[in-house]
Amino acid sequence: MSVKNNGATRFFLFLMLLLSAGLLASCDDDDDPSTSSGQADDDDAVDDDASDDDAVGDDDTIGDDDTIGDDDTIDDDTADDDIADDDTTDDDTADDDAADDDTGDDDTDTCLKPNADCTLAETAAEAGFFVGAALPGSTDPGLTVVPTHFNSVTAENAMKWGSLCPLLEQCDYAEADALMDFAAANNLRVRGHALVWGKIPGHGHPGDLETLVNQAPDPYTFLQQAIDDHVRTTVSRYAGRVESWDVVNEPLAAIGSGFEGNIFYRTMGPDYIDTAFLAAHEADPNARLFLNEYFMAYEGPKIEAFLALLEELVDRGVPIDGAGIQGHVYVTEPEMSRLSDFLVAINDLGLDVELTELDMAKNALWDDMLAGRELFDAQADAYDIFATACLSAPACTGLTTWGIDDSHTWLDNVLPFEWFAPNLPLLLDTELEPKPAYFTIRERIAEFN
Ligand code: G3I
Repeated sequence: MSVKNNGATRFFLFLMLLLSAGLLASCDDDDDPSTSSGQADDDDAVDDDASDDDAVGDDDTIGDDDTIGDDDTIDDDTADDDIADDDTTDDDTADDDAADDDTGDDDTDTCLKPNADCTLAETAAEAGFFVGAALPGSTDPGLTVVPTHFNSVTAENAMKWGSLCPLLEQCDYAEADALMDFAAANNLRVRGHALVWGKIPGHGHPGDLETLVNQAPDPYTFLQQAIDDHVRTTVSRYAGRVESWDVVNEPLAAIGSGFEGNIFYRTMGPDYIDTAFLAAHEADPNARLFLNEYFMAYEGPKIEAFLALLEELVDRGVPIDGAGIQGHVYVTEPEMSRLSDFLVAINDLGLDVELTELDMAKNALWDDMLAGRELFDAQADAYDIFATACLSAPACTGLTTWGIDDSHTWLDNVLPFEWFAPNLPLLLDTELEPKPAYFTIRERIAEFN
């Protein structure tokens, strides 16, 4: 695997990622003047210092046995063998639109042989593995090829709390329902994303939530009830149809080892995580429940904090089944040698893991190779690192790309990535044709099964 790399590139990328994280998190930076509940009052400012009291895994900060400590142990059965059975993919569709021109009709061929004439969806289904795409919306042109290439889908935005309910008391499930109908019609597994997310009011959560919390006589109780209502309503609505949920998204600060100081954490401390998981578990005991997080590196304080948080949740009996690990990286970025160790460490806690948001963008230093094969080949190597890490872990149940094809990616609409558009970060090109990374992942799935 020869992902090109050099010091200047890595420094540049680090700056870009920091800037991006800062932009996305900007709504969370201010102190909450009206926090009145006891637990989080001291934590208004998120401190990135790994050694301070905000560190995840610090008993003073999380692990309040009085709050959880019940009998809701992890349900190992929910992470079992019924994942990605062979019925997941619509074989008729996949056969007709097979990615390879030389696709054969020999039914004795297994997709798990090297260079088999199978789509990624067929290969994944046969391997009992999920390969997914985030769906931008129910009318996106890319939907036409999704059942051919993927056996799992996630709503990129439609199922976020703030998308369902731009205002707390003003909810509309039509777009989410439409995507669920699309998934059902095509036998696609659904990862629900994301029930509770502290970023981007109006998208990650209702635009008026913070104001309402701050105006409430008892902000802690108000927010706890709001989370509980929302999670129960949404998970119940899609019970039996959403196989796994990102219950809480991005609870940690961008860097360092602290929690992100969003409205949830400032008001309830880490109790908000427990509240969300308990409500989700009661609303659909069979759904696998995930904590989803992004990382700028797969080693260091944030990794340690995340593992400590997972361990605390497991120890407290919070009904968590797995961890979602995002992967928004540059093609040229990864020193990913520790990714594999990280995934195994999560499995060692008795939890499943999935790679939930993969995209491998080009960057400014690749301008002269825009859309060229050289970029796509390097991109295939970068995807290979993630796919190999997942497939070689004991319980990594799938990977999802954050979009369908290169004609639509969030990266092209958000600074600083927008400056370098088109970022071309996905498995299908702008003509909806498979790129080298697609075939690399397909071969890797076959190799590991
Ligand atoms: O719908 C409005 C539209 O009416 C308006 O004209 C337009 C103007 O900018 O904005 C549209 O909303 C945008 C929405 O995407 C739908 O396109 C929001 O501004 C924009 O903030 C939103 O961005 C999404 C972002 O999460 C925030 O919800 C991205 O598409 C989505 O890819 C991104 O996904 C996140 C994951 O959920 C969590 N991990 C990181 C990942 C990337 O940031």
